[in-house]
Amino acid sequence: MVKTNFSLDVPEINWEMVDLFSDRAALEKELDDFVHLYEKRPFDNTGGITFGSAFAYYSFLKRIAPGAVIESGIWRGFSTWLIESMLPSASLICLDPVLMMPLNLGQVYRSPRAHYNTHDFSCFGFPGEIAAQACVVFDDHQNVSPRLEQAMNYGIQHVILDDNQYEDTYHESITHLIKHNHPVLPYLFNAIDEYYLFPPLIPPTPEGCPVEPLWKEIPPVLQHLNHEQEFAYTWVTYIRLKV
Ligand SMILES: C[S@@+](CC[C@H](N)C(=O)[O-])C[C@H]1O[C@@H](n2cnc3c(N)ncnc32)[C@H](O)[C@@H]1O
Repeated sequence: MVKTNFSLDVPEINWEMVDLFSDRAALEKELDDFVHLYEKRPFDNTGGITFGSAFAYYSFLKRIAPGAVIESGIWRGFSTWLIESMLPSASLICLDPVLMMPLNLGQVYRSPRAHYNTHDFSCFGFPGEIAAQACVVFDDHQNVSPRLEQAMNYGIQHVILDDNQYEDTYHESITHLIKHNHPVLPYLFNAIDEYYLFPPLIPPTPEGCPVEPLWKEIPPVLQHLNHEQEFAYTWVTYIRLKV
């Protein structure tokens, strides 16, 4: 039985609906807390996560409270700053080939606490004690099935998947697999205990998105943000694997 926050149309898979945001007061409080943290951001991000996706990471990571976070895909390091700020005692491993490229990314954030490496997640070789308490955050635009298999092989239970999107792109997402009723789906979902898609903050609901926005209109605490930029929807998804 897969716990999920929408009707999961996957052959041979039973699911149970969980309303992640039934406690509206808790959600408003979480938003308020996050707005205060976001005000301390080191720069306005480009080419990566902005407010909406960062809030999704924050909300999922608060629930999981992992002892270690492995980031695959760091770019300018905005997500690293977020994770480091909200989880002050978690170990951090940050993987990205961008670290060996002579690119000028403008302002970047590199954490003194993180262990940086240019190896791919598939061949990094995480120690068992890290894997056992880790959440891996995939924002590396790689195909999802091998990434989940690799996480399972390491014994990593918690996965945050960015860009689990409906519209076609160069990497394959779970939403794509569902859209095309791919034959791998029953096998994939047999390995999953929980599958939650973080909703858009406000309307409109993007094409193919099966969850309703969290608010009908912009909450007052978000009025000051550039909505087009900061509310970009990137289909952030939490997956708990059976390990
Ligand atoms: C969308 S950006 C990440 C944004 C970042 N998480 C943020 O805070 O805004 C995608 C990153 O994935 C990286 N990438 C591409 N292939 C990768 C791989 N195999 N492993 C890890 N990172 C990879 C790219 O170099 C790029 O920095």
